[in-house]
Amino acid sequence: MSKIGPDRQHAAAAAAFDEIAADYDGVYGPDGNAVMTWMRHQSLSLLQAAFRAHDAPPGSRLLELGCGTGEEAVSLAQIGYRVLVTDVAPQMVALARAKADRVGVGGQVHGVALAAGRIDALQPSQAFDGAYASFGGLNCEPDLLAMGRALARLVRPGGVFVTSVMGPTCLFEMVWYLLHLRPRRALRRMGGRWQRAPVAGRSGRERAVLTRYLTVKQLTAALSGFVLVRALALPLFLPPPYADSLYRRHADLFRWVERYDRSLRDRQPWRHLGDHTVLVLQRRA
Ligand SMILES: C[S@@+](CC[C@H](N)C(=O)[O-])C[C@H]1O[C@@H](n2cnc3c(N)ncnc32)[C@H](O)[C@@H]1O
Repeated sequence: MSKIGPDRQHAAAAAAFDEIAADYDGVYGPDGNAVMTWMRHQSLSLLQAAFRAHDAPPGSRLLELGCGTGEEAVSLAQIGYRVLVTDVAPQMVALARAKADRVGVGGQVHGVALAAGRIDALQPSQAFDGAYASFGGLNCEPDLLAMGRALARLVRPGGVFVTSVMGPTCLFEMVWYLLHLRPRRALRRMGGRWQRAPVAGRSGRERAVLTRYLTVKQLTAALSGFVLVRALALPLFLPPPYADSLYRRHADLFRWVERYDRSLRDRQPWRHLGDHTVLVLQRRA
């Protein structure tokens, strides 16, 4: 449990992400961050593969938690999906909706400002075929159990939930900081405690949000209505997005490393050693 209680934590996260929302795509989009662009590409192809494998082809109805500026919802809408996007930060939902309108898929992307732990408030006329939460929104959610219970109601039996969360053992980070004789930094993700992590806006605007690094075990315990079908590291050997300048400086080396990233990322113990871990879970029948 964090010290401030779930409602205050949601309000604090909403305020922080609202403040950086307008800068988000500039910092983490294709012009701002090359590692994140690679991760986005991987995430979208993993999402599409998981939805198709679980009987949710384009045209199906999806629910997104922590949608951010709607990068993934808009891409999925462009190939035919209908998506209800949610996020704790109202500005993020507004930007996602506006982006969908701008590229002509506004009719397929609807939005509600809602924390992941409060999605029980949704009362759709029919269950969703799939749901997803990409790149760390769930690391900020204090009420994962409530989220898990609600998702089990909102996703149809056999439907799929895909999430990418920051894990406690990022190999790159541990090796990098140990080599730089900064052991505390190397091990900072461990221990499961809530800590302040920076979220970057442009022009020096940086806000901190309460974050905890999640294990596969913690997530599957909160999602007891689902069965884990796949877990993999994303990225495994490449640096995390905050080390983008290193990635750009050694682009040729990292392009070569990418193939090992992809071939080992599903295997034990590698799948637990990424910056993010992607989990694919199927709703129990
Ligand atoms: C790192 S961003 C990722 C956004 C988006 N999923 C993407 O792939 O670009 C995390 C997002 O989670 C949202 N968020 C943070 N805490 C949340 C919570 N408890 N419930 C729902 N969304 C949350 C933030 O507002 C932010 O938009």
